Amino acid sequence: MASSLEALQHWVNNVAALTRPARIHWCDGSDAEYQTLVQQMLQTGTLIELNQQTHPGCYLHRSHPSDVARVEHLTFVCHPDEQDAGPNNHWMDPAEAHAKIDALFDGCMEGRTMYVIPYCMGPIDSPLARCGVEITDSPYVVANMKIMTRMGAAAQARIEHEGSFVKGLHSAGELDPERRWIMHFPAELSIKSYGSGYGGNALLGKKCHALRIASNQARQEGWLAEHMLIVGIENPRGETYYVAAAFPSACGKTNLSMLIPPASYLQDGWKVWTVGDDICWMRPGADGRLYAINPEAGFFGVAPGTSDATNPNALRSISHDTIFTNVALTADNQPWWEGLPGTPVTDWQGRPYDAANGPAAHPNSRFTVSAKQCPTWSDMAEEAQGVPISAIVFGGRRPSLLPLVMEARDWTHGVLMGAAMGSETTAAATGAVGVLRRDSMAMKPFCGYHYGDYFAHWLSLDRPGAKLPKVFHVNWFRKGKDGKFLWPGFGDNLRVLEWMIDRVQERVDGAETPIGILPADGELRLDGLELHPAQLDELLDVDNAGWQTELAAIGDYLQTFTPRLPERLLREQQRVTRALDEAD
Ligand code: GTP
Ligand code: MN
Ligand code: MN
Repeated sequence: MASSLEALQHWVNNVAALTRPARIHWCDGSDAEYQTLVQQMLQTGTLIELNQQTHPGCYLHRSHPSDVARVEHLTFVCHPDEQDAGPNNHWMDPAEAHAKIDALFDGCMEGRTMYVIPYCMGPIDSPLARCGVEITDSPYVVANMKIMTRMGAAAQARIEHEGSFVKGLHSAGELDPERRWIMHFPAELSIKSYGSGYGGNALLGKKCHALRIASNQARQEGWLAEHMLIVGIENPRGETYYVAAAFPSACGKTNLSMLIPPASYLQDGWKVWTVGDDICWMRPGADGRLYAINPEAGFFGVAPGTSDATNPNALRSISHDTIFTNVALTADNQPWWEGLPGTPVTDWQGRPYDAANGPAAHPNSRFTVSAKQCPTWSDMAEEAQGVPISAIVFGGRRPSLLPLVMEARDWTHGVLMGAAMGSETTAAATGAVGVLRRDSMAMKPFCGYHYGDYFAHWLSLDRPGAKLPKVFHVNWFRKGKDGKFLWPGFGDNLRVLEWMIDRVQERVDGAETPIGILPADGELRLDGLELHPAQLDELLDVDNAGWQTELAAIGDYLQTFTPRLPERLLREQQRVTRALDEAD
């Protein structure tokens, strides 16, 4: 089909006419191309070479100090009809948005190279995968896209064959926070991002395409594009169960996707396989089950806190061929962040480290690494048909009230649990840290349309013939009166996953409560764990009065999506409220 290549060429020509680059480079995705870019960036100072003895192929990038996180207040979803964006998005009229941002793109690439990056989100031969092309003037973006996506010639061939692709235009611009916008045009399958070089704002395949644009495509085509990890749990009998879990940014997706089983589980032969750590696309298969792919090919993970104690698999993955962004340095040029042994000498801004300036590594500093480098990377991650999902898990940082784990009684209840999700805010986005904010399905920053319509779409998957996964809610972050976490978390989270799988297999009954099904006495495997019985009681405590207040708050929150809030969700909130009243 020559026409699709022409459409691509035509768009590239138009962009070049607007941005006026000195050169245009079509990326082929080869290792040689990557190495050439790295050498150029070392020369310009965009990359800094790390200790090649300890970290071969590893480089550091320092972003502008004002450009270190996603900028939700500058992120717009530009549907033709404002109502379609919903109260969960910032909206701008598409014509106005184009005019505003095109004025910034005008001539912005003068004297620079414009890179054309064809990429595929998902295994290149997967019917669930979707393609896009990002145009950028940032070689750092090209290098990251090479690691994070299937980028280059194969993707371009699929685009030429398929015809449709998402158009993403990016320029780092002047990195001026006053001249920075991230605009999405779902009806045109296009994205325009100006003035930021930071991951979520600049690597357009990730949050912009795979979540904000794809959530719109998913709604139209009957699938889900979600902010979820995908992990495979293999039991000693060799059976693998796949779990997809949605936690807000910096709440433990990367950790859970790479967890290392506790010693007693390892002895018994349990294994954990990583399929994805951030994004999950899933679609009902012919048998009615949901099948999931990870649209990404790499990890863009939070560095601080990543250590041998918390995530040894991540640490091993990033021992070579990794790009670090905004981490600190040791005296011998090794990357360093809070949570690692050793001492920082240079902070993330390149200044001599001084505790008075705050953390040595930026709290949202990241590593970019190919998923293939992860010791637990699953063979099934390349499976074109995806993996069957047995359980969907929601969770967030809730210092009180929310139990360690609970199961929804059915799909509708599960959708309510997801919609009601809340979490304390973290450093992954600019703004105050530690405030409770509702973040339905961990998609508040990423759902590219009205949350009311989104809840209705989730509910619509419950149809004749569907064999939907069980839905759970977890909370690794409940704190005791001493202010410490009650649950050890990390590897020990497998204990909770095992209970979920036991529930899927109907090997245990659980205990019914007004808020859902909790583990009954003895159902959680706790061998080898130092957990006081009183601690476990607290982790599984259901505080009826507290929950009545919570349900009222959930009701108020849901009402903000009127008139598009599905009646069925409101009735479910009322059902749980009544169950609490009756148990009181
Ligand atoms: P994004 O990549 O931004 O979407 O975030 P993420 O969900 O992948 O977050 P990540 O796995 O990087 O989690 C980072 C933070 O969660 C770190 O501070 C970890 O220490 C903490 N964390 C992860 N798992 C656990 C756990 O089981 N218990 C506790 N207490 N903390 C955890
Ligand atoms: Mn994320
Ligand atoms: Mn992550």
